[in-house]
Amino acid sequence: MAKTFDVGIESLRGNGVALPVAHQAAGRQAGAGGLLPLPLRGGRGSEVAVAPTATAGKSFFLETFGCQMNDHDSEKVAGVLQGRGYHAVESPALADLVLYNTCSIREKAAQKVFARLGDWKTLADGKIIGVLGCLAQQEGEEIFERAPWVSLVCGSASYRKLPELIAQLESGGRRVTGLDLDTDETFETEITRRDNLLRAYITIIEGCDYACSYCVVPHTRGPERSRASEAVLAEARRLAGAGYTEIQLLGQTVNSYRDPSPRGWKFVDLLRAVAAVPGIRRVRFTTSHPNDFHREIVEAIDEVSELCDHVHLPVQSGSTRVLREMLRTYTREEYLQKIEWIRAARRPISITSDIIVGFPGETEADFAETLSLLDTAKYDAIFSFKYSPRPNTSAMHLPDAIPEEEKSRRLAVLNERQRAIQIAANEKLVGQSYEVLVDGCHPARTQWGGRTSCNRLINFTSPHVNLLGEYVQVKVTRAGPNSFAGEHVT
Ligand code: 5AD
Ligand code: SF4
Repeated sequence: MAKTFDVGIESLRGNGVALPVAHQAAGRQAGAGGLLPLPLRGGRGSEVAVAPTATAGKSFFLETFGCQMNDHDSEKVAGVLQGRGYHAVESPALADLVLYNTCSIREKAAQKVFARLGDWKTLADGKIIGVLGCLAQQEGEEIFERAPWVSLVCGSASYRKLPELIAQLESGGRRVTGLDLDTDETFETEITRRDNLLRAYITIIEGCDYACSYCVVPHTRGPERSRASEAVLAEARRLAGAGYTEIQLLGQTVNSYRDPSPRGWKFVDLLRAVAAVPGIRRVRFTTSHPNDFHREIVEAIDEVSELCDHVHLPVQSGSTRVLREMLRTYTREEYLQKIEWIRAARRPISITSDIIVGFPGETEADFAETLSLLDTAKYDAIFSFKYSPRPNTSAMHLPDAIPEEEKSRRLAVLNERQRAIQIAANEKLVGQSYEVLVDGCHPARTQWGGRTSCNRLINFTSPHVNLLGEYVQVKVTRAGPNSFAGEHVT
């Protein structure tokens, strides 16, 4: 995966200040937060005020692995627990209930979770240990075999059952599972604990109806279910009322959204409506599937200033032959047509992508097509992965596996090529000014960090002392491949 920061961030992190990081390699602890305290307006942090008392009631520790969907699911799970009187603690050793919200997209992610579970072999004593999310769905009751000290296994498609499962554990149940995939409802909670104090996530669609041959998600998250547009808008209004100005709409294929209510909105209708909610200044959305990416989304971004100028549009491979094997449902040419629409927009829109190298049967010529696609698409950033065979996927048994060393070589070549593209493109931005939402700072409050509408990270200096949560103009003074340095334009 591409490195997220390069300019100046080390000095911020070296001083022990945690900035919100979009994708961390390791698991994250929902109890720990991960942001500097912000000047809270209107009680942000939880949609319903629940006092986290350190003394009363039962405690929980929740660690999250994987994607932003998992991050947000954890916020909802934490809300469910807080609603039942649990309070979050920062160390699993202090918790009555230890939960892992897991990822199984690649083998390494799954191994990491089993390593964590292994820690409890002799220490679980009296605690309830639970496994949630994709690995739970994938491994099911096998988890009890491998780690008999686990008492809760629940996949994300069954989260609606979580309160009931927890109640069963509270009344002495030893082993409970939620593993149904046939739910046609989404996970709605009365309370969602918000861990990111600036960017609020709203899931608009859960599951996935595509069947990409490498991907476990249709198996682990179940079929696609969209939320009613009114429920999404009501949540957006509530968040705006609580002081949030930035909303990120989430879904594995967010742009496949189809309003199940009688008004039958398409994704772009919902996008425009969320952007029109008073108080909302930035709307992001991820992840888009190229097949459902239509020109009207670009037109909306062009017309509506609240829609962020960033599209994450994973291509996976530059070779039509490999795309066909991956069951991605588009060709290289069809994908590049969509990139052209985005590049032709009136305002510059940044584009990012996911790429897999070493898919079974990927030849040197196929890989060369992926490299040449990088040159054409000129992505602002990519997330790159070595293909990892996963259970319950149709690619699992494909012939012509690529040796691990060759996958590593291709990954390194790919990342080097992309790095050169980013260095060249980013240097051209020196001297430009951008509006930045400030989301981190150096303890001495001399250096700040924030994101532009196109999700570029800029670390900058300012004579001001209280900028967290503010929108400020920043002029870029220096560019690295993954981030920028700048100064506050006052
Ligand atoms: N191996 C490697 N990468 C994968 N991804 C999904 N499944 C696999 C797999 N089996 C990548 C895709 C996807 C991103 C979230 O993870 O690029 O877009
Ligand atoms: Fe996985 Fe493909 Fe669905 Fe994305 S669209 S979640 S890659 S199956």
